[in-house]
Formats: sequence, structure tokens, C-alpha cells
Amino acid sequence: MKVLVIGSGGREHALVWKIAQSPLVGSMWCAPGNAGTALETVTNTGKQVENVAIGAEDLDGLLAFALEARPDLTVVGPDNPLALGIVDRFESAGLRIWGVNQQAAQFESSKIFSQDFMNRHGIPTAEAGSFDNTDEAKAFARSLDGKCVVKADGLALGKGVLICHSIEEADKAICDILEEKAFGAAGNKILIQELLIGREVSLHAFCDGTSYQLFPTSQDHKRALDGDQGLNTGGMGAYSPTPFLTSEELDAAKAQILDPWLSGCRAEGINYRGILYPGLMLTEKGPKVLEFNSRFGDPETQVYLRKLNTDIVEIFEASIDGRLSSMNVEWSDQSSVCIVIASGGYPEAYAKGKPITGIAEADQLPNIKVFHAGTKTENNQPLTSGGRVLGVTAVGKELQTTLDSAYEATKKISFDGAYFRSDIGAKAI
Ligand code: AMP
Ligand code: GLY
Repeated sequence: MKVLVIGSGGREHALVWKIAQSPLVGSMWCAPGNAGTALETVTNTGKQVENVAIGAEDLDGLLAFALEARPDLTVVGPDNPLALGIVDRFESAGLRIWGVNQQAAQFESSKIFSQDFMNRHGIPTAEAGSFDNTDEAKAFARSLDGKCVVKADGLALGKGVLICHSIEEADKAICDILEEKAFGAAGNKILIQELLIGREVSLHAFCDGTSYQLFPTSQDHKRALDGDQGLNTGGMGAYSPTPFLTSEELDAAKAQILDPWLSGCRAEGINYRGILYPGLMLTEKGPKVLEFNSRFGDPETQVYLRKLNTDIVEIFEASIDGRLSSMNVEWSDQSSVCIVIASGGYPEAYAKGKPITGIAEADQLPNIKVFHAGTKTENNQPLTSGGRVLGVTAVGKELQTTLDSAYEATKKISFDGAYFRSDIGAKAI
């Protein structure tokens, strides 16, 4: 098979690495890819993966390339092309593609769509209202005593969520999004949710329209600095499994959230084939949904794919064909961790083009795999080109020793301004 992967982050490098190991695959492209994706070779044929310089949101360019190159399967990493309808366009052109269609992508691309869906299907979530009028929004925030979360409806790079503890904070958040357009058109409408208290966890599931297969548990670290200090980021590290979700809580999440979500999709004719990645709050009154994402998490994917024993191409094929329920998806019970090395300043402004050393040395250590994220190559020299630059992953018997080996590997890698959190997984030990 010929496989095209779309995207350029750490998640996509992990996808390329895993897909390249499939006995079904003979050659691969990644669009646009990064310095790491271009270093992978397809196990079966020894062929190097080829980066194609087409952006993940250039749907016309991607479609033209696919019609020419004829991949047997295209796999989509990021949320934006899914929300733009890449799956619908490829399918209309007779191309086989894995990921959610535009209708299903609304679970992530519109927070109001998700909230209304949950209300229709009795899925536990925060009390909420949706608004495009400032005065009505402020009145609702007052009814919650200002303890609320104000969210831009649309995609805002994970930044469109403002947590408020007072009426003054809520008023300001509402004005910032609706009037000052702090998140652009994504904030033409807002969702205001009550502020939920509890422990936050997330889940991942492969879906095929009629069934789902849950992944093992994992935990991401969103804040930039140790001790969950600093700004929110895309994710500074992850580990799996996490002890912070008991099997009772997992059962409750299945029965109260995933099952009604799936039957709701079926009842409404939403053909959901891809990843469902819900963010949950474990409250005193049971699990409640904070948000739905409709793609793999980053850096969760880097952690998960190192634990996945089953051929991922077979899973994608079964997900497209609606055959997931007859598949046995196997995960290793080892610990898996990812430490993200970021550019100084991230998630705010940061420099690019810094030479990186030591990646190959780190990669050679036992049980280590370094995934590239914001990197590019110039004259054979890897350079930084993004905020999250590398994800150093390790697998091992137990969490502590696995973390130790990942942190040992990070010592080999350096570039000007590099920083990472030193407490990934610490709370679980
Ligand atoms: P979201 O992108 O909707 O998941 O929101 C980003 C982050 O804001 C979440 O990971 C939570 O930490 C926090 N958050 C979102 N909604 C709520 C809520 N209703 N109550 C408390 N925290 C929330
Ligand atoms: N790790 C957070 C995300 O992918 O949204």
C-alpha cells in the first residue's frame, strides 16, 4: 500500500513511524512533515518516507497531489483539515481517507454544537448557555456568580477558553471574545459553562460509526512550567497508564458518556469514523464532559503509539469499513512517557532556526524514540522551526524507571533556548 499522512507535528511523526512498520505498507509520504518524518523508512521495503511540501490546510493542493500520486490510504493528523472537510473532499474524489468527516468534526470545531448535542442526549456536562449578545451573556454569567468558563465557539488553537472566578473576570472575558474579537471569528459566538471542580482526565477511542474501542488511560501536562505553573500550551509531556482514573470511573464514563454519545450519533445520522478524544472532569457528581476533540492528542499519540501492538493500518482500515468491533486492538501494559522539549518563550513568541544537536545520540539509547515536532533540515542540519520541537519518548516496566531513562536521553539533546518540564508523571508516583 501507498500511504499519505497529513500534518507536521510530533503526533504526525509518531503516526508515520508506526504506519511505516505495517507489513501492509510499501511506500509513504508526509505532507508537509518535519525533519523527523523524512528520516523514517518503511520496514517492508526499506524505502524512505518522502516529505511533500504542501500545508495541512491546503486542501486543493493535497487533493491535487493525491489524485496524481494515488495513495491507497490517507491519514489525517490535525483538527483544521478535518474541520475544513478534507475527508468529504477526498471521498467525493474516490480516495480512501481516515479521519472524521466535516459533520463529525463539528464536535471539536463548534463547542456550541457539542453542548447542544450533549443536552439532547442526556450526556453529563456543565450547565451552559450560548450567546452572541454581550448583555445576555453577562446576565447568564451573573446567574453563575461569575464562576464560569467563557469559550469561543470555534477553533482557536486551544486558546479560546477563559476561566473566570468573579463577575468582573467574566464580564471582561465576554467583552474580550465577543467585542474585542480576541480569538477572531472563532469568537463570533461564545459558550459559557459553569466552572466544574474535580480532577481532569481525557480519553481516546477509535470509532467506526457504530462502535468504539477505548485506549489505555493517559495524562497530558498542559501548563508550560513545573508544578502546573505558567501558561497553557498544546501539551508539555504525557504518560500512560495513569492511576487517576479507576476502573469504576472508566465504566461510568463508558455508560454515561461514550455509549449515549455513540447512540446519539447514530440517531442523528452522524457517521463518526476517527478518533473521539473527550476531556472530562471527575466531579463529586460523576464524570462530566468539558469538551470533545475529534483527532489524536499531541503528545498523547507519541505515548500511545509506543504501546500499540496491533498494526495501526489494520485499525484504520477497520475504522473506515465499520469493522472495529470484530478487531482485537492490543496494547502493551508497559509504561510509556513523552517529554516535550520546547523553544524558549513558547507558548508565547520564540526564536526559530536554532541548530539542534544530539538527537541521534538520544535515539540510540535503549527503549528511547525521539519524535520530531517543530523541526526542519537545512544542509543536513536539523533546526528548530516551532514551539514544541521534540518529544523524547521511553517505554519500560514501571513509570519511575521509564521517566528516568527519558530524562537521561533529554540530556543528550541541546539547542539554544531549549526547555522542558522536569515533573512529567511525577504526581502519579
Ligand atoms: P477546553 O478546550 O474546552 O477543554 O478547555 C480548556 C481547559 O479549560 C480544560 O482543559 C480545563 O482545564 C478548563 N475547563 C474547560 N471547561 C471547564 C469547565 N466547565 N470547568 C472547569 N474547567 C474547565
Ligand atoms: N494534548 C492536548 C491536545 O492534543 O489537544
